[in-house]
Amino acid sequence: MRIAVLTSGGDSAGMNPAVRAVVKAGITKGCETYVIREGYEGLVRGNTTPPRPRPKAERHVPAERLARFGTDALVKNLSFGDGPALREGAGDADEEEEGTLRGRHIVRVGWDDVRGWMGEGGTFIGSARSASFRTLEGRLAAAHNLIKEGIDGLVVCGGDGSLTGADRLRAEWGELVQQLVAGGKITETEAALNSHLKIVGLVGSIDNDMALTDMTIGAPTALTRICEAIDNINSTAASHSRAFVVEVMGRHCGWLALMAGVSAGADYVFIPEQPPKSQPWEEEMCEVIRRHREVGKRKTIVIVAEGAHDRDLNPIKAEKVKDVLTEVLKLDTRVTTLGHTQRGGRPVAMDRILPTLQGIDAVNALLEATPDQPSYMIGIHENKILRIPLVDAVQQTQAVAAAIEARDFGRAMSLRDPEFEQ
Ligand code: F6P
Repeated sequence: MRIAVLTSGGDSAGMNPAVRAVVKAGITKGCETYVIREGYEGLVRGNTTPPRPRPKAERHVPAERLARFGTDALVKNLSFGDGPALREGAGDADEEEEGTLRGRHIVRVGWDDVRGWMGEGGTFIGSARSASFRTLEGRLAAAHNLIKEGIDGLVVCGGDGSLTGADRLRAEWGELVQQLVAGGKITETEAALNSHLKIVGLVGSIDNDMALTDMTIGAPTALTRICEAIDNINSTAASHSRAFVVEVMGRHCGWLALMAGVSAGADYVFIPEQPPKSQPWEEEMCEVIRRHREVGKRKTIVIVAEGAHDRDLNPIKAEKVKDVLTEVLKLDTRVTTLGHTQRGGRPVAMDRILPTLQGIDAVNALLEATPDQPSYMIGIHENKILRIPLVDAVQQTQAVAAAIEARDFGRAMSLRDPEFEQ
């Protein structure tokens, strides 16, 4: 089987270990392994230049590795020479030639190409939020490129938007193949050989916003970064008896804000799924912080999720919270927006273990897939790696957004956590 892996949407720590796991597990199981650069955008653009000649490196293969995995797959797949180029983000993707972007986005990789990726942040194979993949024309080009390269299994590592895209590609696949035949791009024989595309999703997102899985790849690292930042803020806040309003990422999900609040001992947290009960919210927050100050706290930390809002869905922004703390409670208040520092840096241990276990299962799921099965997302629940129908996870994630939109906050919370009680 030829399998390819891509990373899509906002990068997250753990994507490199995920790609590494898919490549190494694929090779171990006798597959040919590919990476697709720049997410779906690379899939749409495909390869427009021939592969570069690759130097044949002399390799020493440790005996225990050969014994463990079998010589054939491993020796054949040791190195395809693109490793360093992939790592530095250089290489042959997107070269400017005669005013057009040309290059190779679908690249065969071997065992050595992903060596040392475990502890590295971001994604070496690039990621993008692709506008062209959202068009039918773009998805047709993507399907054509997969068929041209002979790839029959695809692992997509990304957030809910990226996995929605994967689910759409799977659902439309038959139709896309027929259109490629009608447009003369592929033959009837090629269409028959490619009647199914096997897709598996890995959830890579710092937001931890995907339904039906306990944890997404990158969320533990982002949470750790936030805690470290708030620990640093704590000492300066206490020194000056100040208040700090810390804005954290998470898009429409309050997980990062809530867990950071628990881990860093915040005074008040604003999250999208559960806005303050009173409307307007200002007095409710001030009451809590006033009490904390009265019992002797020298510092105040308020965490605002970037998607926070009140019960009428009016955004609650960090600057507004600062004004309230300053004017009503007379606290010397500063705002800190953590921004992309939350997304960067080396993966913590959990963001190495989780993508490794899930990447291996993604390859197993591709190898075991049958046409009558749904496409799976690899999740984790109560410490067990699980396969969840991708369509169910995508639908339930969208249901949370719909519940918030309908101002049914109780439902939003219970969709996030079935054991939640109002
Ligand atoms: O989904 C991950 C995330 O970091 C969100 O938390 C945030 O809203 C968004 O991506 C930021 O996107 P960008 O990096 O494109 O500004």
